[in-house]
Amino acid sequence: MSDTPTPREALARQLAEAVAEALRSDLAQRERALLVVSGGSTPVPFFHALAAMALPWSRIDVTLADERWVAETADDSNARLVREHLLRGAAAEARFVPLTSDAATPEEGAAEVGRRIAALAWPASVVILGMGGDGHTASLFPDSRELDLALSTDEPVVAVRTPSQPQPRITLSADRLHQAFRHFLHITGEEKRAVLGRALAGDDTRSLPIRAFLASPLSIHWAP
Ligand code: 6PG
Repeated sequence: MSDTPTPREALARQLAEAVAEALRSDLAQRERALLVVSGGSTPVPFFHALAAMALPWSRIDVTLADERWVAETADDSNARLVREHLLRGAAAEARFVPLTSDAATPEEGAAEVGRRIAALAWPASVVILGMGGDGHTASLFPDSRELDLALSTDEPVVAVRTPSQPQPRITLSADRLHQAFRHFLHITGEEKRAVLGRALAGDDTRSLPIRAFLASPLSIHWAP
């Protein structure tokens, strides 16, 4: 077993240190901090590294940028991912507010979740976004019927449906995701570097929704 971290492990540790520092800095200014994380597979080593950081976890709220329309027990639930990989050890003292809902429809779920997260410590201390190979971030997908709404509404949470995903999604709107002191972009994979390059150079947010966040101050963390 090599002691040398892989590029993705090294990136995860570097990102965890930067996020921990941003949280400490915010907690020096106010009683509670808010950390908004993304799901998928990339964040797992980062979650492990952040959970090991010495932080006043009982003063930190945690929520998600988006969620699949599934139960928390589902294999692809982002809430389950956070509970299993981030909220462990001392980090289990954080106040986690998932986006999961048992409402009858994703639209009713979005309205319920919007009310639920209103009580969190907005603006967020940190929002961490990922990016898919199609340039989506959170659940702002280029082929979703509700993309224009998610990019333009001042509602906090939107239900979206997209042919590229097996189930509807609940996502924070772009307006709500912008409400943060710091944004971090956490991306892995050689194939995504080209997509990120197009997003940085391009001018069409509808085809590459990640562009909605590239103008704001953003710390980009990428590894092959
Ligand atoms: C999700 C995430 C999503 C993710 C991208 C990239 O629910 O899947 O919030 O926006 O960040 O799909 O996922 P990977 O980093 O696992 O490729």
